[in-house]
Amino acid sequence: MIDVIILAIWLMIPAGLANPSAALLGGGAPIDFGKRFSDNRRILGDGKTYRGLVLGSLSGTFIGTLQIFLAPYIAPYLAGFVDPQLLVGYSPIALITMPFGALAGDIAKSFFKRRLGFERGAMFPVADQLDFVAGAWILTMIADPKWLLANFTLWVALTVIIIIPVFHVAFNIAGYKLGKKDVPW
Ligand code: CTP
Ligand code: MG
Repeated sequence: MIDVIILAIWLMIPAGLANPSAALLGGGAPIDFGKRFSDNRRILGDGKTYRGLVLGSLSGTFIGTLQIFLAPYIAPYLAGFVDPQLLVGYSPIALITMPFGALAGDIAKSFFKRRLGFERGAMFPVADQLDFVAGAWILTMIADPKWLLANFTLWVALTVIIIIPVFHVAFNIAGYKLGKKDVPW
């Protein structure tokens, strides 16, 4: 049980930190360049920027790379809980597609939010929390299905879906308190 939770958190760190990184480092030109869709609403909105996408992805990949280097030092402390071998097995492709997919999922969600008439920053429960999981998994499933299926076994995947909302809420409240987000979700 505890091993599955540790693994779920470990595997989702690069994707999970992509969005908070985008919130901290983002800004500048919006991805939709301010353009409107046929419904006369913004395509994505000012909350999706190129800088956020690029720096958020790079941050996730950097953190994942750091995890690989730190794994041999961390693993002994977790030896009783999780097979150390599991912590070091990040694929180079997944290191890129997990964070990038996470932000792609976030962008796709914003597209649908705007179509449904939600303003930038408006709360969209469930989608706001699991968009990045869906994006990370779908892109990685396309790019490196072997790695994804070997690591996200049924129980790990279910654990991710259950624990993500808890972390998501915590990070968004932190982002709000830091003044990086207009609303605490
Ligand atoms: N951000 C960014 N570029 C991205 C994603 C996020 O610059 N690709 C930054 C923006 O400053 C954004 C903040 O991170 O406002 C928080 O991200 P998020 O909650 O995903 O965006 P919202 O502003 O809530 O917009 P939306 O309603 O479209 O989700
Ligand atoms: Mg938001």
